Amino acid sequence: MSLKMKKAMTLCIAGILMISFVFAGCSKKKTEDTNAVETAAPADTGSEEADVTDAPDSTDESDYSNRSAEDLSLKDIYADRFMIGVAANSWQLQDKETMAAITKDFSSFTCENEMKPDYLLDYDATIAAEDGMPQIKVDTLNRIMTMAEDAGLKMRGHTLVWHSQTPKWLFCKDYDEDKGYVNKKTMLKRMESYIEKVITYCQENHPGVIYAWDVVNEAFSDDEEGGYRLDSPWYEIIGEEYVEKAFEFARKYADEDVKLFLNDYNATIPAKRDSIYAAAATLAEKGLLDGVGMQSHHDMKYISIGDIKGALFKYAQIPGIEIQLTELDLHNPDDSEGGLATQAEIYGDLFKMLVDMKDEGNANITSVTFWGLSDATTWLTANKNETSYPLLFDENMKAKPCYFAICDAATKE
Ligand code: G3I
Repeated sequence: MSLKMKKAMTLCIAGILMISFVFAGCSKKKTEDTNAVETAAPADTGSEEADVTDAPDSTDESDYSNRSAEDLSLKDIYADRFMIGVAANSWQLQDKETMAAITKDFSSFTCENEMKPDYLLDYDATIAAEDGMPQIKVDTLNRIMTMAEDAGLKMRGHTLVWHSQTPKWLFCKDYDEDKGYVNKKTMLKRMESYIEKVITYCQENHPGVIYAWDVVNEAFSDDEEGGYRLDSPWYEIIGEEYVEKAFEFARKYADEDVKLFLNDYNATIPAKRDSIYAAAATLAEKGLLDGVGMQSHHDMKYISIGDIKGALFKYAQIPGIEIQLTELDLHNPDDSEGGLATQAEIYGDLFKMLVDMKDEGNANITSVTFWGLSDATTWLTANKNETSYPLLFDENMKAKPCYFAICDAATKE
């Protein structure tokens, strides 16, 4: 059956279901916490919320269990709304089958690790540099960008300025960890030099491939009061100004059409959300920032689609802002049929909400990236002390129920 026919059938079934819902006066059980959103979203959120949660559910188990993913393509299904991305590593791109699987469903690619300062900074070359500025391993960049470009993938650049996965020596006098931190002036020169080298190399050698940069990653605190993360060498040496400086340098060197993002996790926690909002609004007003990246590492047990929606409403108040979900996954320790069905329902509800927010013009969501291709390679299993099944494909690259639920979410009425 063609995709068009399938869509038509889905819409038809959805319509019949909707009519029976109205006549039977049914109210569907909500899977999300709607309380939190009240505080963040505009007054009309109540009806928005009802629209999302009461939408006919075309993703019941019997629906997706007999289907094949071969004829489906997430990037095509969502093409009118936002790009669909995936994070992976160069060893995965090298494998032909994996690359084929990636290009079938995804239009955007993020390096899970290899564009981070830890991987790009070249200690020996830095020590030897006559101008005393940090040097980068262009071969590392070139290898992975060539693979992505040849496959027709656009890239999110992840990430320029981060407290983690950045070698301590970058911050130290003579690049010697025993000598203590350099002063603010020197650190700003090093920051500018690093940002200039990375962005310029990518643009000159792979023009048009990177469409967005996570300029600053995880600058904010999870504390109840919000505010800046204090345990970052960038903050310790430069102070909170480091965020604006990083954007200033990125803007100076990035091509005009490349979008600059402030990226963070737990971007739905009220205090943190408000800190991110305040910084992003100021940077956007100065013409330095284009978007907010909500990493979106969620846990099936605690996810609140209402909170996510509330944060989207909040960030969307910034004039002209783009929002991207940059590292989406849904921790799920239960790969039983029931566990996977629940996961599918949550992913489906999440995407229905995203579609709704986009279609209604409430949030300019421009891409959604999954943090990993399959459950075989998720960072969560190492991180959670239990096996996690958070992604769209199982260990054998078989599409999971959540894959189909996300496809269905795009065709909801
Ligand atoms: O490459 C080394 C290998 O040589 C060594 O033998 C091995 C032993 O531990 O470690 C390998 O490095 C690991 C690296 O991933 C590559 O696999 C690091 O230990 C490990 O810490 C690192 O984890 C990455 C993590 O960032 C580090 O913070 C994850 O893969 C990556 O998914 C994760 O991604 C972050 C985003 O960048 C920012 N947001 C949160 C997200 C999840 O933590």
